[in-house]
Amino acid sequence: MREGNQSSTLDFILLGVSGQQQQEDFFFILFLLIYPITLIGNLLIILAICSDVRLHHPMYFLLANLSFVDIFFSSVTIPKMLANHLLSTKTISFGGCLTQMYFMIALANTDSYILAAMAYDHAVAIRRPLHYTTIMSPRTCILLVVGSWVVGNTNALPHTLLTARLSFCGNQEVANFYCDIVPLLKLSCSDIHFNVKMMYLGVGVFSVPLLCIIISYVWVFSTVLLVQVPSTKGVRKAFSTCGSHLTVVSLYYGTVMGMYFRPLTSYSLKDAVITVMYMTVTPMLNPFIYSLRNRDMKAALGKLVSKRISR
Ligand SMILES: *[C@@H]1O[C@H](CO)[C@@H](O)[C@H](O)[C@H]1NC(C)=O
Repeated sequence: MREGNQSSTLDFILLGVSGQQQQEDFFFILFLLIYPITLIGNLLIILAICSDVRLHHPMYFLLANLSFVDIFFSSVTIPKMLANHLLSTKTISFGGCLTQMYFMIALANTDSYILAAMAYDHAVAIRRPLHYTTIMSPRTCILLVVGSWVVGNTNALPHTLLTARLSFCGNQEVANFYCDIVPLLKLSCSDIHFNVKMMYLGVGVFSVPLLCIIISYVWVFSTVLLVQVPSTKGVRKAFSTCGSHLTVVSLYYGTVMGMYFRPLTSYSLKDAVITVMYMTVTPMLNPFIYSLRNRDMKAALGKLVSKRISR
């Protein structure tokens, strides 16, 4: 049996999404398409929002922050997968593995809390249109964003440290295309009971925003059903993005909870396909879902692109 501190000299093997060569080629091409679309889509959102003063509004600041997180989130896992496939290797160092795990957990949590902040923002815009600017002040907005980053990193640290202490005895094959917490725990020959408990706690912390989002939506829909909504511009704008927001949220939490809210023994390599959904597809879809259904965003994007072309 190897000691935990010796693990740092060992490389892990990333088995990929399916473990079969032909399907790996397919996922390589898929990720090769997804990655640039994710980067360009999210970058365009940030540029459009920063360059258009009409979009200097809490709702769009939060959206830009979501795009910012998504760029890093997809960069934690996809480039490594692409590089390994090109170099015909499957290895990742122990340090690289822990780094991937840390940023994956931190950014997924930050994403989750920003989604909740966006739901809260929509709810305030609809329920308290007259008090919106006082409730969603620049200070509150910054607090929500900074808070999301703090929670994300605070949630990632214990899992990474606890995993760093584990021993791995011989089998170093991680059943996924990146170092996810579950396949790593399954590989370890140490006692992982505490790690598993902490993981469920971590998924709980990750899922708190879902509760906030559901409450925000109940609050919003009760307005629609019970109260006559004053048709201000802010209200209409908030409604147009509610549907898009719900789409992203169901995709994101549905897949994450399907992956982690169950006993550890039921995991196999087949589940790696589920992780493709929230690790790569959701960050790619976010910019499209938000901008294609929002007239102001579309106008700003159009202006941005035509400005570049006419130069
Ligand atoms: C994130 O939100 C803050 C606070 O509203 C804002 O000042 C900042 O510009 C946003 N970041 C991006 C990348 O847009």
